[in-house]
Amino acid sequence: VTVSLVGAGPGDPELITVRGLDRVRRADVLIYDKLVATELAAEAPGLRISREGMTQEKVNSLLVAYGRRDLHVVRLKGGDPFVFGRGGEEALALVDAGIEFEVVPGVSSIAAVPGAANIPVTHRGLATGVVAVTARDRHGNGIDFARFAGMKETLLVFMGLDALPAIAAGLIAHGADAGTPAAVISRGTTPDQETVTAPLGQIASAAEALETPALLVVGDVVEVAQSLTRPRTLATAL
Ligand SMILES: C[S@@+](CC[C@H](N)C(=O)[O-])C[C@H]1O[C@@H](n2cnc3c(N)ncnc32)[C@H](O)[C@@H]1O
Repeated sequence: VTVSLVGAGPGDPELITVRGLDRVRRADVLIYDKLVATELAAEAPGLRISREGMTQEKVNSLLVAYGRRDLHVVRLKGGDPFVFGRGGEEALALVDAGIEFEVVPGVSSIAAVPGAANIPVTHRGLATGVVAVTARDRHGNGIDFARFAGMKETLLVFMGLDALPAIAAGLIAHGADAGTPAAVISRGTTPDQETVTAPLGQIASAAEALETPALLVVGDVVEVAQSLTRPRTLATAL
């Protein structure tokens, strides 16, 4: 295989897969994203190229150009390459150019980041499903508020930190209860992880000081974290 599209995991360098790390360690050329742990990029023996500041077209053309030279190219992306990661676009560019590729899945933040904050994205009796969306811009224009307000499933919003006030207001304006449990997890699975929990009506102001990357979780599952974090009280035998 010429090009490996590899998921680096959600932040903690230990959360890459065995196969992913093998590919990184054999890379002639590594093209890596900003969210990738520096320790992982440092494992690549060959040329290392940061993707920061490059357009998607530029990344695609680099993958094709190095791929044509028969080098082992590793495209290392945060989380999983196919979850809000444009991995599909890169794979299509490789197919169009007739270059062989493989996908090495990664641990996506979709479950790992809430999980690291003790929030299960589904939980029997609380949420039978999960919907993940991207905020798209600071007005939350990627979100169909009418569809998600009051929904029984857990709502996860990616890339939504700047849009928190618009997202909370939009959901509430479309009928969501302002008291719906919500949480924002910043830099999940890393030593800098921070979690803020508040009712939906207050989550934007509560999470104001948090930094990217951050994930918004809305739904009753957020409350499970309290039971998991607090030591269980032993029933006192009288
Ligand atoms: C471009 S998407 C990439 C998602 C990635 N492909 C995955 O599977 O996790 C980046 C967004 O994912 C979320 N994210 C990724 N890593 C995160 C982390 N460690 N903590 C909190 N949110 C994270 C944030 O919403 C961030 O803006």
